Amino acid sequence: MKAETIAIHHGYSPEPTTKAVAVPIYQTTSYAFDNTQHGADLFNLATPGNIYSRIMNPTNTVLEERLALLEGGIAALALASGMAAITYSIQTIAQAGDNIIATKTLYRGTYNLFAHTFPSQGIEVRFIDPDEPEQIRDLVDENTKLVYAESIGNPAINVLDIPAYAKIAHEYGIPLFIDNTVASPILAKPIELGADIVIESLTKYIGGHGNSIGGAIIDSGKFDWKANSKRFQKLNEPDPSYHNIIYTEHFEEAAYIGRARVVPLHNTGASLSPFNTFLILQGLETLPLRMDRHSENALKVAQFLENHEKVEWVNYPGLSSSKYKSLIDRDFQGKASGLLSFGIKGGAEAGAKFIDALNSFTRLVNIGDAKSLACHPATTTHRQLNDEELKAAGVSKELIRLSVGIEHIDDLIEDLTQALEKA
Ligand SMILES: Cc1ncc(COP(=O)(O)O)c(C=O)c1O
Repeated sequence: MKAETIAIHHGYSPEPTTKAVAVPIYQTTSYAFDNTQHGADLFNLATPGNIYSRIMNPTNTVLEERLALLEGGIAALALASGMAAITYSIQTIAQAGDNIIATKTLYRGTYNLFAHTFPSQGIEVRFIDPDEPEQIRDLVDENTKLVYAESIGNPAINVLDIPAYAKIAHEYGIPLFIDNTVASPILAKPIELGADIVIESLTKYIGGHGNSIGGAIIDSGKFDWKANSKRFQKLNEPDPSYHNIIYTEHFEEAAYIGRARVVPLHNTGASLSPFNTFLILQGLETLPLRMDRHSENALKVAQFLENHEKVEWVNYPGLSSSKYKSLIDRDFQGKASGLLSFGIKGGAEAGAKFIDALNSFTRLVNIGDAKSLACHPATTTHRQLNDEELKAAGVSKELIRLSVGIEHIDDLIEDLTQALEKA
């Protein structure tokens, strides 16, 4: 099946008891065991089935199967937020004393997790320039567990050369983790491009309507965790946290996602509510249509801004003037999603006036909604950063970020025109 069909049908057909056509919300904490043996078999992972909704739920299973197939992976794990997905993706294989390599232009929440929380828990994060994958070679050592990057960065809106990253990471026997939130599996399939693990914030384009927070990890099933059993000892040695199971033996190619579910999720509990899953599934059904419109509208907005006298610069990887355009054409089907940033003449003051004058664009800090959104990172998401940190994060004071929605383009351009006049 193609993505448009998978997004609507995969993982569910009217269930036999009620024939419900929409995926039911299984609003239950627990699942009955047929007898004690059945319960024991479920806990031993000797038979498949549901135990407790902290670690699995049939509504979530539909979403997981749909996302896994859309991304070209073998299995997925749905979680309470994108941040939970990022945290668990790392904790599944890394512990105190280990390090990871990550690009420095990450989503602010991820950067905070990597620059502050993980180091305070003993996991060191070594940052590199996203345009310089060769820097991996200078930083990798025997305790490096993975390389982490965003396919399209938020808010820097840089585009990653995923095959180049995958090639270098794999030379050292290290998996590549890609946050594919801004591109979504409709524009790019990081696994086909060489990534091993994909992370999605479902809060953004996949849910698409600004109503539910969610996240997911998708396992390609392709990485050979056994090849270096010392580096990936968490997957290759008996785990006292879960019945001394050896994941590479029990789950074989699904070792990684198996451990993500039965250790980080099981033990720390950031589970996705099936009610949120239901809403995210509604959004997912129209994701392919929306990604086309987001990309089309954003390109038109970027071209409009590029030709406007009050605009200093525009950063949109779909523009022919962007240094990332060739990557967008090669790996993202020529579509660059809905995020763009620009610098307004007159700096932070003009930026604030512009934002305040907008009518069709909502002022908030989110991306990927059907509605158009505007934000001034220097006074909101990035306000704690000093000048140097702002520069490193690719955020200047005059930068305005737009998440272009799927409204009619004429209305958006009209709104931008009057707001630029007022600024
Ligand atoms: C690229 C990216 N990854 C991850 C996240 C975190 O997702 P969530 O807000 O669902 O925790 C965000 C949030 O903005 C994001 O933009």
